[in-house]
Amino acid sequence: MSTIETVLNETRVFPPSTEFAKHANLPNIAAYKTLCAQAEDDYLGFWGKQADENILWHKPFTHVLDEGTPPFFKWFDDGELNVSYNCLDKHLSTQPDKTAIIFEADDGSVTRSSYRDLHQRVCQFANGLKSLNIKKGDCVVIYMPMRIEAVVAMQACARIGAIHSVVFGGFSAKSLHERIHDAGAVAVITADEQVRGGKNNPLKITVDNAIKMGGTESVRSIIVYQRSGNDVPFNPTRDIWWHELVNGKASDCEPEWVDAEHPLFTLYTSGSTGKPKGVQHSSAGYLLGTIVSMKWVFDYQSDDVFWCTADVGWITGHSYVTYGPLAMGATQVIFEGIPTYPDAGRFWKIIQNHKVTTFYTAPTAIRSLIKLGHDLPSKYDLSSLRLLGSVGEPINPEAWMWYYQKVGQSRCPIVDTWWQTETGSHMIAPAPGAVPLKPGSCTFPLPGIFAAIVDEAGQDVENGKGGFLVIKRPFPSLARTLWGDSERFKKTYFPEDVGQGKYYLAGDSANCDADGYFWIMGRIDDVLNVSGHRLGTMEIESALVANPLVAEAAVVGKPHEVNGESIVAFVVLKDELPVGDAATTMVDELRRWVAKEIGPIAKPEEIRFGENLPKTRSGKIMRRLLRTLANNEEITQDISTLENPAILEQLKLPTR
Ligand code: WT7
Repeated sequence: MSTIETVLNETRVFPPSTEFAKHANLPNIAAYKTLCAQAEDDYLGFWGKQADENILWHKPFTHVLDEGTPPFFKWFDDGELNVSYNCLDKHLSTQPDKTAIIFEADDGSVTRSSYRDLHQRVCQFANGLKSLNIKKGDCVVIYMPMRIEAVVAMQACARIGAIHSVVFGGFSAKSLHERIHDAGAVAVITADEQVRGGKNNPLKITVDNAIKMGGTESVRSIIVYQRSGNDVPFNPTRDIWWHELVNGKASDCEPEWVDAEHPLFTLYTSGSTGKPKGVQHSSAGYLLGTIVSMKWVFDYQSDDVFWCTADVGWITGHSYVTYGPLAMGATQVIFEGIPTYPDAGRFWKIIQNHKVTTFYTAPTAIRSLIKLGHDLPSKYDLSSLRLLGSVGEPINPEAWMWYYQKVGQSRCPIVDTWWQTETGSHMIAPAPGAVPLKPGSCTFPLPGIFAAIVDEAGQDVENGKGGFLVIKRPFPSLARTLWGDSERFKKTYFPEDVGQGKYYLAGDSANCDADGYFWIMGRIDDVLNVSGHRLGTMEIESALVANPLVAEAAVVGKPHEVNGESIVAFVVLKDELPVGDAATTMVDELRRWVAKEIGPIAKPEEIRFGENLPKTRSGKIMRRLLRTLANNEEITQDISTLENPAILEQLKLPTR
């Protein structure tokens, strides 16, 4: 069995409005297709031109792609640049006083930083790093709250050619330790505490605990930003306050010019098994990916107020907070807090107050805001919005419709952006002025991205059939390797058995419909096999979420004597947790519902209810834990990356 069956049938189509298209960077489908055709006809010419036009080079490159030893491709290899120069200095002569960052703290207080101010802060901090003898090629771990300083820390590393590795502030000492150790970091940049949702979380103590675990002798300095001012342990021979470090430092710092391929950063991402992978990105190719996607997908306009809600601890926060928007000279919002504090209207209030035009968030946030305040957006003035975005998981068509109608007031296109930590920037996503949208589809690959769906032998599958999502040609923003483990990079992403090691294997299953639209069906590892039918998780989950009573759903397989696997669904209702007869009735209703929406084949054998689902700290549902629960086995997996461990107890027991 080489393909995966598609069962979802979504027929709604939303063409771009004339008003939106009129001002768009890609104003019609012909404009999009012309770029695609250029890439098709002259692949290297296309990317060479983009790199030429979009990056300020200290030394221009003369060759575009060096195939080297595939899959270790090099782009624009003999060129030299500095990424921080491209994000800051570039704007000093043209728009020094433009607001770069509107920062809203957890308590609602607002600070603004202009391009001139941000440049100065980055230079001073970069000089501070240099005074600690941190040099080009050194690795620096950043474990910071979501504030201007997090961006300053990253940009300052880029400025001196140090390789940053940001660890999300919610990770435990154990996870932090693993990453500091693997990266061989020479310094850690952190804060005394992090303040989110009115609560203080220790960061410095966690760093100390991580260091105590040993094997972190490489760390010479710990730089501590004073956020809360509360007492924290401080070791004066190793620790230094941020404000003391920058005190008296020059407000200019000549950027370190680096080769195009110089690593800009590593970012750890956990796979379903094994230790986290240090995904290593380049300087020029990565930067280029963020810039072209800002133009094509976010349709960047100079008067935009851009807001990507992702933390800088994730790739989304790297590409669409720290690098992409600044490279464009955009004004952007950075928010320290959480969507539900002081109430579930916080996001809408921020959009209203700062007149946000472009809002980019994750389906998990959207679904939880639906559950907590279905009609709340209408209480705010959201008329500044012109474009919405979604990232991180498939957005179920019902959540898409709510986002479109309630948040975008049926006026704003939604860009559903498919990409990964490894791809660095958007891969499959609509150009919103050009491409008619279908709820739940990320639409078409961007120009220069040769995405396809293939079977196990690497052969293209016909439209309507599901298979493995691959990218057939190398592209500039792809990760270069895994930190210290190039063998694992090759084996994981360019496996011999699919496409003879020539294709980038994303690890997702997907299908193309008759119009060539891409639909992501879930991770390959999560595919179910029911009576010989291979089904992705996404479609069954979307069918469940389409029921008006359901807020969220996740399905997994459980071995079944006759059918191979049977489907177990974990469901969160919009109302409270059903018990007793109410639960039984609900199970019957949802099973009937799925049978009607998709067909009897997809009917869950078992349904369990919870007040939430087990999620990673980036909001992804952890299906491997649900599989263990579905099989009524003890959980022995590492759950340190789990946001809400308490929820496992609730989901343990079958409803009946
Ligand atoms: C995986 C990558 C991309 C930045 C945030 C997550 C899933 C991501 C979508 C989307 C369907 C999506 C995929 C992908 N995913 N965006 N628009 N539609 N699925 O980065 O943690 O590296 O995760 O997230 O499964 O492979 P990541």
